[in-house]
Amino acid sequence: MEKKWWHDKVAYQIYPKSFLDTNGDGIGDLRGIISKLDYLKKLGIDIIWLSPIYKSPFVDQGYDIADYYAIAEEFGTMEEFDELLAEAKKRDMHIIMDLVINHCSDKHEWFQKALADPDGAFADYFYFRKGKNGNPPSNYRSYFGGSCWEKVPGTDKYYFHMFAKEQPDLNWENPKLRQELYKMINWWLEGLSGFRIDAIINIKKDLNFPDFAPDGKDGLASCWKMVESVDGVGELLEDLKKSTFEKYDAFTVGEVFNMKPDELPEFIGENGHFSTIFDFSAHCLSDGEHGWYDAPKLEFAKWRAAIIQAQLETQKYGFKANIIENHDEPRGASRFLPSYAQTPDGIKMLGTISLLLRGIPFIYQGQEIGMRNAKWNSMEEFDDISTKDQYHTAREAGLSDQEALEVCSRMSRDNARTPMQWTSGENGGFTKGTPWLKVNPLFKDVNVEAQEQDPDSVLNYYRKLVALRKSDELKEVFTYGEFLPEYENVDGVMAFYRKDEFKCILVAANFGKDAATIKLKSEIEKVWLSNRIDGTVDCEKDSLNLRSCEVVVLELENHK
Ligand code: GLC
Ligand code: CA
Repeated sequence: MEKKWWHDKVAYQIYPKSFLDTNGDGIGDLRGIISKLDYLKKLGIDIIWLSPIYKSPFVDQGYDIADYYAIAEEFGTMEEFDELLAEAKKRDMHIIMDLVINHCSDKHEWFQKALADPDGAFADYFYFRKGKNGNPPSNYRSYFGGSCWEKVPGTDKYYFHMFAKEQPDLNWENPKLRQELYKMINWWLEGLSGFRIDAIINIKKDLNFPDFAPDGKDGLASCWKMVESVDGVGELLEDLKKSTFEKYDAFTVGEVFNMKPDELPEFIGENGHFSTIFDFSAHCLSDGEHGWYDAPKLEFAKWRAAIIQAQLETQKYGFKANIIENHDEPRGASRFLPSYAQTPDGIKMLGTISLLLRGIPFIYQGQEIGMRNAKWNSMEEFDDISTKDQYHTAREAGLSDQEALEVCSRMSRDNARTPMQWTSGENGGFTKGTPWLKVNPLFKDVNVEAQEQDPDSVLNYYRKLVALRKSDELKEVFTYGEFLPEYENVDGVMAFYRKDEFKCILVAANFGKDAATIKLKSEIEKVWLSNRIDGTVDCEKDSLNLRSCEVVVLELENHK
């Protein structure tokens, strides 16, 4: 396999709005990010992904872009952005931005021009279609609820949107539109190291927009059914790559759901569309059939199996980007850990598994201090558009107000979007003003300042963990070494080897409530890491005892 500059990197996602506010308007900003670069460097971060910072009305928190060439005033200026790039470079860190090109904002000039002249050239930057027998052109439900079709005022046409109605989908069949996007991407790539690419699988539409059998009480069908049934996204993605990323040797990480099962090599193989794509296999376990309200409960055995399966499949072709959480998901510590494990030990254990899998680890802001879901007292406390939709869906399905609130509390994207907890002071040190979204009440116990002082904190453990992954001795095996699951028949234990010709590293964790014992297959050569305070392991002959929530990283004598 050809080695790439990003194979051995560790990435960190910043959600700028909630990272650090330096001017007291309650909104995180670029100055805040610049001031924390040393913090990220100390954590061992190489690549920083910024969620969107472009000019936007923020209907979907910046994923609705009104001007691809401008920085949102809320965050700062282009000069400050250049400063961020320069400061990152000084520290040998890479910046990647979010690339949202399936749709733009309805406030984007293109869409405004399309509305002004619905038969003109700009209308063809979007999907403007006539309805069918007084109905919209098809029966699709958007990802945020309601029809995918919205009336173009003053006409008999509708425009297409897979997300909010303020996020009209761009027409990728139009070569002119594609050229405009490529120009913009190349302009950014003069300074950036790459992109995280938003919702990209959706760019290919079935231009017949066929109806599907309704799958909900609203009589609509999920729009992803069209995505799953249409072929040809690969041609668009190749055109995109060849016209942009490839020329810059850019690092690209795709947000890809609903891929066809045999497409993995095309997406991330040697000459794939992207450098990597996120592994959402654990997250998809809680996809409800109709929404968050009927999301299945997480079961450890399924979680373990999903990750193992993804690892084994992926290593045949390339790398996936491993995450515990991101800005669209609840906090992983609350989601993947049973309540007895939602402790510093449990959180360290989960982090160890995620970071030592094969792939590119992404840490989401606050994960490194063990941030958990917030307590939400009423729907008014939420901001997120999709949470509001899911509340309605739950209510419509017959859940009480309280039950629907509980569903949202558990699953809301806002759990990940509460401000970063820097100190135990007012607003967790995030802002001197009023935060745009409430601060998680746990900030007094969980914050960077306190954890800096405690050698055994989650933060200091994460620092050790990242350093271990990148250490001279183990970098090679953690980057390119094979992933091999082990002890799959031991209840509650998640364990695997990372192996190459020279090294055999065993990562073993006990997610169970009770202690567990496993039989080692060869001698321990070195204990590299453990979440026991004294750093020891409990091993007698070949029997390794793991307490509840214990994780160990051992070098074993190489064996078959
Ligand atoms: C992606 C983003 C999400 C956004 C959506 C629409 O899934 O991660 O935050 O709402 O795309 O752009
Ligand atoms: Ca600010």
